[in-house]
Amino acid sequence: MNKSDLNNLIRPLVRELHPYVYGEQPKIKGLIKLNTNENPYPPSPKVLAAVKTAVDGRLRLYPSPTAQALREKLAKLHGCHADNIIVGNGSDELLALAVRAFVEPACCRHPAGRSKQKSELPARRWQHVVQYFTPSYSLYPVLADIHGAAKNAVVLKLDFSLPSVAELKRGKRWDFNAALTFVTTPNAPSGRGYSTREIEALCKAHHGLVVLDEAYVDFADENAMKLALKHPHVLVARTFSKAYSLCFQRVGYFVGHAELIAALHKIRDSYNVNGLGQIAAEATLDDLPYYRANFRKIIATREKLSRELTLLGFRVLPSQTNFILTQPPRFPAKDWLQKLRDQKILVRWFSAPEVKDYLRISVGTPTEAEALGKTAGKILSG
Ligand SMILES: Cc1ncc(COP(=O)(O)O)c(C=O)c1O
Repeated sequence: MNKSDLNNLIRPLVRELHPYVYGEQPKIKGLIKLNTNENPYPPSPKVLAAVKTAVDGRLRLYPSPTAQALREKLAKLHGCHADNIIVGNGSDELLALAVRAFVEPACCRHPAGRSKQKSELPARRWQHVVQYFTPSYSLYPVLADIHGAAKNAVVLKLDFSLPSVAELKRGKRWDFNAALTFVTTPNAPSGRGYSTREIEALCKAHHGLVVLDEAYVDFADENAMKLALKHPHVLVARTFSKAYSLCFQRVGYFVGHAELIAALHKIRDSYNVNGLGQIAAEATLDDLPYYRANFRKIIATREKLSRELTLLGFRVLPSQTNFILTQPPRFPAKDWLQKLRDQKILVRWFSAPEVKDYLRISVGTPTEAEALGKTAGKILSG
C-alpha cells in the first residue's frame, strides 16, 4: 500500500485535524521546567506510601470501574452524593466525554425529513455548537474538531476579564443556546480569576450546558463548586494534576446533576481510571493539610516572582493560578522563550494572536523562581 492509499483509510475529518500541542517534556539534566504548570512539590509522603504499598499482586485485577471509593470521598468533601460525581483519566478525558455526550456532530446531520420519528428530527444549529472564550484552554477547539462539532470562540476583554452578560448580548457573537460552553475559571493561560457572582450570572443566562473548568481553582480566592449543585445545567471540572501533584497518575472529576453524570458514565471506557491513580487520589484526600500548605507556598512564590519580574520591566498580569502570564521587555516573547531555554529554563509561549506577546511561566519552588529572576536580569543586562 502506498502513502495515499493509507491516507484514504483515515476518515477525512481525522486527516485534516490539527492535534493539541502539548507542552514539552524534555529530559535535559539541570533543566528548570516551568512550562506545563506542574506542581513543584511532590505528592505527600502518605500518598507515595499508599501507591508503593499497592504495587503488589493486585495489579492483575481490574480496578473499580466507577472509582467508587474515590467518588464517595469526593462526595463527602463537596457535600453531595457519589451519583453527582464521575472520575476520569485526567479531567481532559471528561472534557472530551462532555463533547461526545452533549453535542451533536455538525458533520453528521440527519438528512431533513428522512424520518418522522421525533428522535431523528434534524438537529438545530445550536445543538452542534461547542463554545468557549479565547484565550482559554486550547484543548476545547481540538475536542470540538475531533467530534465534528461547530465552534464558537469569542474573545475575552483586552485585560482578559470576562464580558458581562449584557456585553455578550450586545456583542451578538456569544450563543446563549450553545449545546456546550466551556469556561476556564480561573482562566488559563491568562491566570485571571473570575468571581462566583459573575460566573453565576453567565450560567443563569445559558440554555445549554456549561462546564466550569476549575483546573487551577485551588490557587484562587473563590471557587464555583456550589453552582454545580445548584444549577442542573452546570458541571464543574476538577483535577488532581495541578494542585495535588498527580499529573503522572491522570485523575480528574466532574461534579454535577446526577442525570448528566449518568449520561457521561454511559459513554466512558469501562475501567477508565487506573487503579494506582484511584489509590493515589484517595490518599490525597486523606492528607489535604499537606496540600493546602503547598498552595500557600506556591501563592507566596507567585506574588514574589511577579514583583521581581515587574521590577525588571516585565508586565505581569494578576494571577489566581500556579502560573503567571507576562509581557517581557526589550525582546519579543518568542525570543525570550529561546533565550531562557539557552539558560536551561523552560517556559511556555503560544502563537495565538491574543497571547503571542506573552510568556506563560509556571510557579516553581522559591529556588527556581529566584533562578528565573536572576537569569532574566542577566539577559536584560547582557
Ligand atoms: C484549563 C485546564 N483544564 C484541564 C486540564 C487538564 O488536566 P488533566 O487532564 O491533567 O486533569 C488542563 C491541563 O493543562 C488545563 O490547563
